Amino acid sequence: MVKTFKEFPTLSVLDHPLIQHKLSMMRDKATPTTLFRQLLKEIALLMGYELTRDLPMTTQEIETPLTKMAAPVIMGKKVAVVPILRAGLGMADGLMELVPAARMGHIGLYRDHETKRPVEYFVKLPEPEGRIFILVDPMLATGHSASAAIDTLNKRGIADDNIRLMSLVAAPEGVRVVQAAHPTVPIFMAALDSHLNENAYIVPGLGDAGDRLFGTK
Ligand code: URA
Repeated sequence: MVKTFKEFPTLSVLDHPLIQHKLSMMRDKATPTTLFRQLLKEIALLMGYELTRDLPMTTQEIETPLTKMAAPVIMGKKVAVVPILRAGLGMADGLMELVPAARMGHIGLYRDHETKRPVEYFVKLPEPEGRIFILVDPMLATGHSASAAIDTLNKRGIADDNIRLMSLVAAPEGVRVVQAAHPTVPIFMAALDSHLNENAYIVPGLGDAGDRLFGTK
């Protein structure tokens, strides 16, 4: 089931039992790094199924062992998966398994201690022409990184119409920020949590996704 919200018209929460069960395991602080990484990849794969539901289709003449047929295939639109470094890498793995022909870009952002705003330090993207860009970052907390990453794509000629944002857990504050800056970019989440705490962590959340994914502190 896909949950939608009046306040957040671009947000879809993918409320599937498998996704929710796996997310609950990820939230548990006792879940070790190896399992956390595996679960994130599995959820990304399940979410990717829903996220790619409206890819345009066409038919292609093929021959089965019995006869010729016009077989349904995905039309020309190609896919690019773009993780925001570093936690986005864990979600990108699942999507790349689902769409192996997708190209992969990377956007690296760090948080400036004084301004508290994201600063771009690395951008490498595939050719934008005719491509749908799926931006991935597991935690949509303040929304500033996601919004800055979409700005980065825009600056390189990728319009909001060709961008989708896929995250795992969001705070309402973050959804509001992305939606205000990019009101037509669809946002896909596994859960919309309660709020951000004073350190900009999502509550209840799952802690620092990057640290839990890579086993760092
Ligand atoms: N980034 C994380 O990894 N976790 C949060 O809760 C917020 C931002």
